[in-house]
This record gives sequence, structure tokens and C-alpha cells, in this order.
Amino acid sequence: MTELLFRGGTVHTVDGPKQADVNVTDGVITRVEQRLPVQGRVIDVSGMYVLPGGVDVHVHSRDPGFPEKEDFASLTAAAAAGGITVVLDMPNTVPAVDTAGMLESKAAMAHSKARVDFGLWGLIRSSTTTDQLEAMAAAGAIGFKAYLAYSFSVSRKQVLYSPGTDDPDLEPPADYGTLAQLAAAVAHVGLPLAIHAEDPTVLAAFRRPISSYEDLLASRPPEAEAVAVSAAAAVARESGAHLHIAHLSSALGLQAAEDAMRIGTTLTLETCPQFLLLTSEDFDRVGSAMKMLPPIRTAADREALVDGLERGAITIVSTDHAPHTDEEKSLPFEDVPAGSPGVQTLYLSCLQIAKDLGDVWLAPRWVSEAPARLVGLEGHKGAIAPGFDADLVIVDPNAKTRVHAEQMRSRQRHGVLEGMDFDFAIKDVYLRGESIANRAPARGRMVRPAMVVG
Ligand code: NCD
Ligand code: ZN
Repeated sequence: MTELLFRGGTVHTVDGPKQADVNVTDGVITRVEQRLPVQGRVIDVSGMYVLPGGVDVHVHSRDPGFPEKEDFASLTAAAAAGGITVVLDMPNTVPAVDTAGMLESKAAMAHSKARVDFGLWGLIRSSTTTDQLEAMAAAGAIGFKAYLAYSFSVSRKQVLYSPGTDDPDLEPPADYGTLAQLAAAVAHVGLPLAIHAEDPTVLAAFRRPISSYEDLLASRPPEAEAVAVSAAAAVARESGAHLHIAHLSSALGLQAAEDAMRIGTTLTLETCPQFLLLTSEDFDRVGSAMKMLPPIRTAADREALVDGLERGAITIVSTDHAPHTDEEKSLPFEDVPAGSPGVQTLYLSCLQIAKDLGDVWLAPRWVSEAPARLVGLEGHKGAIAPGFDADLVIVDPNAKTRVHAEQMRSRQRHGVLEGMDFDFAIKDVYLRGESIANRAPARGRMVRPAMVVG
């Protein structure tokens, strides 16, 4: 048996922050109490915060498909360095994860490379059947994702950024009808139904060439988000399916979601640090790293999202970590692919946001506790308590971190938070009792709702 004792830290326990020691036996937390007797190796964490490992519910590994942008090794190395011990990978890799067979082959590949634990989302296409959905659930999907505004190339097995044209190879995106037909099955298997909430008819009306940031904003109006949230909520409500809104970006979208919750929709909201920290005004400084969908919007949108987080209407902060290469992100603006990395800065940026709101201990709720609950991992992940995996982040509240491109482990090194300062530093990260912040071996495991398998 391997015994570890983290001694003298301020621990984020289920009852809030406490001075406590944490005893770990064979990678699992066994005791969280004051002044535990010394057993095994002692790790002195006095003066440090001891936080539960982060769970990022929205990352794009690009693997399989685009190894030049990212793969499971570089994604999970970045996660490990940033205190994220579970990543939930989106299904728009190539070939897309739209069947149980694809999910299983992606799981085997990811398992061979992952430096932190990982779970996989399954894709809902407009042609997805109830049987396919149930088979993906049985194969270990942690939830399903529907890209309402993106078409699907049947020959390439790839989710594309724009709704279909007349091209017969392009299958139209899943729509509200698809969701209505599948909602009962989603409710039955008990997994969340996540949507990329942009309504394609609103986007079609505002379509234009994108040569400036103003064009990008004008082409993706907040109405697209609000309409998608309201309509998806309307079709999910009766079935009792759990609707999850990915990367909420606007005040209007937040209002639509809160209206839906008020009338009894089972709905959770996720937003991202970029929407909480930046506005369109930052484009001149940041540049094309800020091209992402949905876009970073106005100061009023930012304030509404911060307020929603503070009030607890938004419970989850994820990254939508979506790297491309730095070369691709340096193309003329209209050719720059949408998306940027974020997994390595999620925890630190949330600690800062929480501190600025007056309660730093909100951060582990947004990046660990609530995300673990969303994907059914609440027995193993998301808390520092006996029986939970010893996924621990040791944070120095008296040291500072500036985000530098050279320290980023993702293939796209220039992210939107580059140059930002945080009043915290990550001292070490443990995955099931093993230190992984600096050099993490490929020992990540696949997580499944309600259980973890090796
Ligand atoms: C994501 C990607 O590149 O996969 N891009 C993005 O701008 N957010 C897709 C997505 O999450 O919608
Ligand atoms: Zn998305």
C-alpha cells in the first residue's frame, strides 16, 4: 500500500475550506481531518490551498483527425499542468464519434496517450437513431452533443462549421425535431444532452463575409443563442431529459435559459473564462486568437455572465479548449479557423474570477464539483472526501502567475489569456495520488458515469 499525507494545507472540503490533513491510500482519499497521524510519505502543503482536481467538460482534443493542432498527449499534458485531472472530449474529432464502435476505438487510442483521466461525448447527428444513442451510452459515453448550426460531411465523417448547402455530401445539422425524437431516449439513459446553442435560421439571416471582428459579431448575434436555448428547452422539457447549454456567451442566452429553468426545464449552464474576462474591446490587443464560436461579445454580456455565475444560475465553467496551429491562427482574419486553447489556464483564471467576486472557494465548485456532477462522476471526482480519487491541486495563494506562450503545452501556444496575471500559482497536481504537474506519464483512465474503469 502507498500512503501519502498532505499536511497543513487549507482544504476545500465538502463543508467549505478547512485547515486539514488529507490521507491518501493507493490513490484514493481515505481521511480528511485535522492533525492526522503520520503514515507513509508526508507532503508539506502548509500555507497552500488543497483543491479538488478540475473537470473540464468541454475540450476538443483534435484526436483522431488533426494531430498538427493537438492530440491526446498534448491536450492532457496541458490539462495536467493546469490542475485539470479529467477532460471530457467533444465528439467532433474525425471520424466523428457517432456510434458505439467509434467511441470504443477513440477510447482505446486516448487511453494509450492520456496523462489525465478522460471521458467521451457522443455526437447526435440528424440521422442518429435511438438504438445508436443507447449503444453509445452502453459503450461509456458521458453525454451527447448536438451541433445545431453545423452540418456533417458524410464522406469525411466530419462536423463542419457551417449549416449545409445543396451539396449532397452534407447532412443537415441535428435540429429541434431530432432532439424531440431522441429526448425520451436521452432521458431514459440518464445522460446529459449538450447543445451548441446557435440557431441556424438566425445565423442564415445574418450571414456575411467575415473580414473583421465586427463582421464576426454581426454574423453570430445573441438572438441565435437565445432562440436555440428556448427551442431546445421546449422540446426537452416534457421528456425530462437533462439539457446542458455549452459555452453560454450572451445576456440574451442567459435570460432565455433562466426563463426555461423557471418553468421547470432540467437545464444546466456552462460558460468559459474568455466570456467572463474579455470583451470585443480586447480584439485589438489579442487578435485572431479571439476568433471563436460563439464569439466573445460586449461588456454588458460579460457582466451578465459574471452576475449569472455569482447568483448560481451558471454552475459550470469549462474552456471550449479548441486549438488550431499558431500558423492557422495567423492567417487573414476571414480564413482563421474558429477556436482557441484554454485548458491549462482554466483553474487559475477561475480562482482569480472567484477572488474578485469575494469568495475564492467558488472556483472549485465551478471547475470541479458541478462539472463532475454533470457527467455522473460525483462518487469519484469533484470533491476532497474519503472514497474519492486523490486528484488534488496544490495552489499557492501568495505567488503570482503570468500567462506565457512558452509555458503552454498545447500545440496552439498563443491563447486569448496570454499576458494575463493571476494572484495564484499551481505548485503541484496529483492524479490518483501521483504528481503530474511537471512530467505526466500516460496513465489516464477513461471515466464513465457512476463508475471509473481502467
Ligand atoms: C470549436 C472547434 O473548433 O471544434 N470551435 C469553436 O470556435 N468553439 C467548435 C465548437 O465548440 O463549437
Ligand atoms: Zn461548441
